[in-house]
Amino acid sequence: MVTEESWQLLREAATEAMQKAYAPYSQFRVGVSAYVDDGRIITGCNVENASYGVGLCAECGLISALFSSGGGKLVAFDCVDGHGNTLMPCGRCRQLLYEHSAPGMLLNTVSGIHTIDEVLPDAFGPRDLEERA
Ligand code: THU
Repeated sequence: MVTEESWQLLREAATEAMQKAYAPYSQFRVGVSAYVDDGRIITGCNVENASYGVGLCAECGLISALFSSGGGKLVAFDCVDGHGNTLMPCGRCRQLLYEHSAPGMLLNTVSGIHTIDEVLPDAFGPRDLEERA
């Protein structure tokens, strides 16, 4: 169960990460945070590039942090904009999160707490590759 206090800690971690974002082109800073199934918190921020399409969403940093800090599955996720307000992860990043989600992973979204299956219904995932090989 993710407590109110846990969500608060996630929000603080996401906001701190957002302050480290490199977003000179869009001026749109993003910070994300997540609980891993072993209880640790990981974070990420967006990192843009002069070749605009090469820019990395904050979630890319988060997934890299997931693996570089030992792997595991994501159980709860938060995402903030440059003002520290709740931001919805983009569609591509929902897919990115889905791959590494624990069953029933929760996201703090603009319309409240939702599961990964609610924000990415009927998702394509690793199982499709296995079952249809
Ligand atoms: N961005 C993220 O980092 N994550 C999202 O889920 C939405 C968009 C970034 C990408 C770009 O650096 C900036 O926000 C403006 O689109």
